[in-house]
Amino acid sequence: MCLTAYDAPTASLIDEHCDLILVGDSVGMVVHGLSSTVGVTLEMMILHGQAVMRGAQHALVVVDLPFGSYEDSPETAFKNASRVMIETGCQAIKIESGTYAAETIRYLVERGIPVMSHVGLRPQSMNVLGGFRARGRSKKVADEIIENAIAAAEAGSFAVVVEGVSEVLAKKVTKAVPIPTIGIGASNECDGQILVTPDMLGLFDWTPKFVKKYGDLKSVIETSAKQYAQDVKNRSFPSEEFTYRFTKK
Ligand code: KIV
Repeated sequence: MCLTAYDAPTASLIDEHCDLILVGDSVGMVVHGLSSTVGVTLEMMILHGQAVMRGAQHALVVVDLPFGSYEDSPETAFKNASRVMIETGCQAIKIESGTYAAETIRYLVERGIPVMSHVGLRPQSMNVLGGFRARGRSKKVADEIIENAIAAAEAGSFAVVVEGVSEVLAKKVTKAVPIPTIGIGASNECDGQILVTPDMLGLFDWTPKFVKKYGDLKSVIETSAKQYAQDVKNRSFPSEEFTYRFTKK
């Protein structure tokens, strides 16, 4: 069971229910209001990784390497991944794994960095993949996704996130690799599941088809803010109960 977190209080609330907490680069979209994860920086990931590590006592914490921080060479990937691990104290990193990734994964794992991979819909590549649509409709792309997962596993990844694929393809990927598959929008055929926490808490009106909303955080925030504004305007807050009165000594 896995969820994402980006701050200490949320991490501490979900910690006992999670085997793994991902500090996802989805932080760019769900916290910072970016339109994709492409603009997320290493500094953002480190800051949010540090916060999550202060809240998580039990779950394995994995931090995403952002776009541009690992693709050009295994050496660059090691420099940035080791910085993330040293500065946050997290236990592993995640990279989105296209065909180029196997060499980098092997290089990182051999040098002591546990790697979780990410195949299928790879949001950092949305500009070449054509947006956030589910992937693997054609046999060619479906085979590519299976190959990416096999290559990531053979290179030493300890788990692979499978995002935005059909049930049939999720089943094939899960069968093809000896490591756990963690699905997001990838049916019940993966070994585990992950969701973006603000999505499943109901913070947004729109969420992808695969998100089940377990809460209604949006209306909790809206109604609380509205009630607070009314109370302040009609001076019913702060009332006696919330007021300091010091007796003279
Ligand atoms: O960034 C993220 O939150 C992720 C999940 C969608 C798995 O990569």
